Amino acid sequence: MQLTSKSRFSRLTRRVGTSALALIAVAALDTAASSAQADSSRAASPTAAHRAPTITKDAFGSTAEGPVDRYTLTNGQGVRVRIITFGGIVQTIEVPDRHGRNTNVALGFATLTPYLTNPAYFGALIGRYGNRIALGKFTLDGVTYQLPINNDPNSLHGGTVGFDKHIWAATPFRRGGDVGLVLRLTSPDGDQGYPGTLTVQVTYTLTASNGLRVDYRATTDKATIVNLTNHTYFNLHGEGTGSINDHKLLLNANRYTPVDSTLIPTGTLDPVAGTPMDFTRPTAIGARVRDSFGQLVFGRGYDHNWVVNRHDSTSLVLAARLSDDSSGRVVSMFTDQPGIQFYSGNFLDATLIGTSGHMYREGDGLALETQHYPDSPNHANFPSTVLRPGQVYRTTTVYQFGTEH
Ligand code: BGC
Repeated sequence: MQLTSKSRFSRLTRRVGTSALALIAVAALDTAASSAQADSSRAASPTAAHRAPTITKDAFGSTAEGPVDRYTLTNGQGVRVRIITFGGIVQTIEVPDRHGRNTNVALGFATLTPYLTNPAYFGALIGRYGNRIALGKFTLDGVTYQLPINNDPNSLHGGTVGFDKHIWAATPFRRGGDVGLVLRLTSPDGDQGYPGTLTVQVTYTLTASNGLRVDYRATTDKATIVNLTNHTYFNLHGEGTGSINDHKLLLNANRYTPVDSTLIPTGTLDPVAGTPMDFTRPTAIGARVRDSFGQLVFGRGYDHNWVVNRHDSTSLVLAARLSDDSSGRVVSMFTDQPGIQFYSGNFLDATLIGTSGHMYREGDGLALETQHYPDSPNHANFPSTVLRPGQVYRTTTVYQFGTEH
């Protein structure tokens, strides 16, 4: 776990010039000012691309906890991201293809109701503990805690009512050519069986250089465990257009954590070399997903944690690069986390209807979840996920969008 403050991504997040800043429209911050600015933006730049960055808000229904808002962020370079305050969910990510045509590349739903159950965790913020904890049990400082078993026989993604099922308090902001949203949630002591009051802040930033940066921060008043992530599924052809088997994936990882039949790590870090888990060179996902390799049989495909190659425990490094030859779209993921779960959408079974009205079948999207290794609290040899009072949990992941020809 990383416990120090840092900011080292400036070389990847170049800012736009000051002329663009004069045109920024932030409707959620100041409606009157923003409409005047938006008008001047249209006058100055008639095309969709290269407009000033904006952030706007609309109502997105309500839950027992209150009203849900949806924020729409645009960066003036053709990228548009929608985030809802329920679950801090990234609803859509529209990015251009090599010809400048925009498509939504994130799986999700058009309305709030299906998000209330969201069994696939589309786009959601995951906490307190992303991924599985064996039998929902862990021991910390001599006390054993029991979490809800919601993925028999284990606890998955924070339990029955995880961070993906709460409304987060939102504050939009703009900084230079970037726009973003700060989301805050307080999880009380004992929430889903976890000890300590956890105060969480997640900041989404859409950068002028087509990056979506996610900064996580948490503090506690009692020793606890924490492992936060985001559960966006990608399909770079466009959400609802079919399989991702032809996408090429590179994982910057020479090792992975093999699992048992319930997808709990056995505790070893095994080499990927010579197995279908080897993505050290860009490889089509479908090339080996139906291989009879025992690990793939357990996961019904890829559903594993890879050990990110890194020289230290704090730098942002490339963890994954996903590309689609047909559209030219590419997303590169940079993180300071020790692991990344690659899940090839194996349990999508045509029961969920996506944002554009198409059903999602197996392999119609894939998730890449930067994280600590699954079940770390039960493996002393894995990097620690313990957070103590006085410490600050901080971690950053950047999804960098682009195209190639
Ligand atoms: C897990 C999968 C699970 C999916 C949706 C992924 O993070 O690894 O096993 O089916 O989330 O719940």
